[in-house]
Amino acid sequence: MNKTHYSSVSEFVFLGLSTSRPVQQFLLVFSLVIFLMIVLGNFLVILTVILDSRLHSSMYFLLANLSFIDFCLSTLTVPKVVYDLHTGNQAISFRECVIQIFVLHFLGGCEMVLLIAMALDRYVAICKPLHYLTIMSPRTCTVLLCGAWVIGFIHSVAQLAFVVHLPFCGPNEIDSFFCDLPRFIKLACADTYVLEFIITANSGFISLGTFLLLIISYIYILVTVWKHSSGGLSKALSTLSAHITVVVLFFGPCFFVYVWPFPPVPLDKYFAILDFLVTPILNPIIYTLRNKDMMMAMRRLSSRVLHLKRNP
Ligand SMILES: *[C@@H]1O[C@H](CO)[C@@H](O)[C@H](O)[C@H]1NC(C)=O
Repeated sequence: MNKTHYSSVSEFVFLGLSTSRPVQQFLLVFSLVIFLMIVLGNFLVILTVILDSRLHSSMYFLLANLSFIDFCLSTLTVPKVVYDLHTGNQAISFRECVIQIFVLHFLGGCEMVLLIAMALDRYVAICKPLHYLTIMSPRTCTVLLCGAWVIGFIHSVAQLAFVVHLPFCGPNEIDSFFCDLPRFIKLACADTYVLEFIITANSGFISLGTFLLLIISYIYILVTVWKHSSGGLSKALSTLSAHITVVVLFFGPCFFVYVWPFPPVPLDKYFAILDFLVTPILNPIIYTLRNKDMMMAMRRLSSRVLHLKRNP
């Protein structure tokens, strides 16, 4: 693909989160520390689920896959932010920008389907407990995961197909710290009104639809638990509130970026921090520290590791 044929802009410049040097230095340290925690936390979750055979069930496999996607989402943006803050050079090439948009939508689409799969898993576990093992079989789990990757891919290709041929002739400043569609197409030297509408329709309505679907299904599960037993409610409530927290944190920024793409103040970039730094660190915390099985598995894992060290 020869982009220079269409465009004279070969790179974009991020305006970043702040122009003040002390704030930038704070952001540098802050992002670096959180990023290391994200890497550690999510790898711990993945490792525990893979190594502990007692966690080999669809709920934990989906959780480990969610950790993997979260890790990829923050790796897509945070190291570049840290690097940019360190060097003071916040440029990104045209090609890298397009790749970032593609991967962002690919992973975002995947994560949405995965969150639906997790809600489905909880629905079957709580509302149809006798059929849980037959319905949420390893095969179902694999089908759901493949579905997530395929849908993420189709969504991303569909988004980018509309924008790769846009001409760019400057300006090239993006008031954010990563490339995403609304700000990207605003820079094109063409009338992008229809395109903005399509992008909003695609990403905005998909995220709004998925969000409503998830919230309605969690309310349905809660009502079912409430009607059928009084004892199970508190346990279900604590599991489901963890899921609902993640859903709200993940979708909140999406609404800011797509459903209301150009607010008077560029709030969208601050909200995006939630998706790249806050949700990825909260997932391991919410799902592990509040989950007894996960904590026990980690304890078994650490005692196995210590045991190995003592008797090699
Ligand atoms: C994702 O889930 C599958 C089970 O369907 C599992 O085998 C795999 O290890 C999981 N991936 C990660 C990164 O945990």
